[in-house]
Amino acid sequence: MIYFRNVSVAFDNVPVLDGVSLHIGPGEFVCLVGQSGMGKTTLLRLIYFDLIPDRGEVLVHETASSSIRKKDVPLIRRKLGVVFQDFKLLDDRNVFENVAIALRVTGTPAGEIDKRVLRVLADVGLSHKRSSMPGNLSGGEQQRVVIARSIVNNPVVLLADEPTGNLDTETSGEILQLLRDINEGGTAVVLASHNEEIVRKSGGRVLRLHEGKLTEGPGG
Ligand SMILES: Nc1ncnc2c1ncn2[C@@H]1O[C@H](COP(=O)(O)OP(=O)(O)OP(=O)(O)O)[C@@H](O)[C@H]1O
Ligand SMILES: [Mg+2]
Repeated sequence: MIYFRNVSVAFDNVPVLDGVSLHIGPGEFVCLVGQSGMGKTTLLRLIYFDLIPDRGEVLVHETASSSIRKKDVPLIRRKLGVVFQDFKLLDDRNVFENVAIALRVTGTPAGEIDKRVLRVLADVGLSHKRSSMPGNLSGGEQQRVVIARSIVNNPVVLLADEPTGNLDTETSGEILQLLRDINEGGTAVVLASHNEEIVRKSGGRVLRLHEGKLTEGPGG
């Protein structure tokens, strides 16, 4: 489903990924670990076609980085849910609208939007907060809204970049459980994190980035 073939990326002539190959199959739970600056976000950006490799090729659902056209990017992104490191909600829209926006941009009919947003808010345990404004939510609740927004399109893969970064241990555990539930539902999850405890608890496959190279397995 996601393939990297000998992928290299450098910024200002400094290599970040150096001949990385990998395969992630449907429904997998994959943790991407490595110290700060080792290229976790860079690797996720490649999956999202937010970045094209200098060498090698990235394939996502038969779309290849070597031949992708600009107009194909939104289409392939609709198959991906993305939770960025610096999650952002629209401060002037309530929780419902922050999630609904992901469907409005794809022209989903209003009745269908209502149904899907309410279902996904129930999935993340926030039905009761649907009319709240983001500024009145806790950090963990805000992150749930971001996750709800990322899965409301039923993506085949959810990319989560350090989704527990600013949260306390207990709340981080809850977010991890939510990601596991989403994965149980059949969505592949790629979780970038330097929180070893979260990674261990996830029970996922571990991919480790260090000095441009990717290795598989626990260790560290
Ligand atoms: N657009 C860019 N221009 C120049 N350098 C960049 C750019 N993006 C990333 N880098 C550099 O590439 C390296 C990898 O960055 P990346 O954000 O992928 O790391 P990371 O593993 O996600 O780190 P963190 O755990 O801190 O989020 C870093 O040294 C970073 O400074
Ligand atoms: Mg990062």
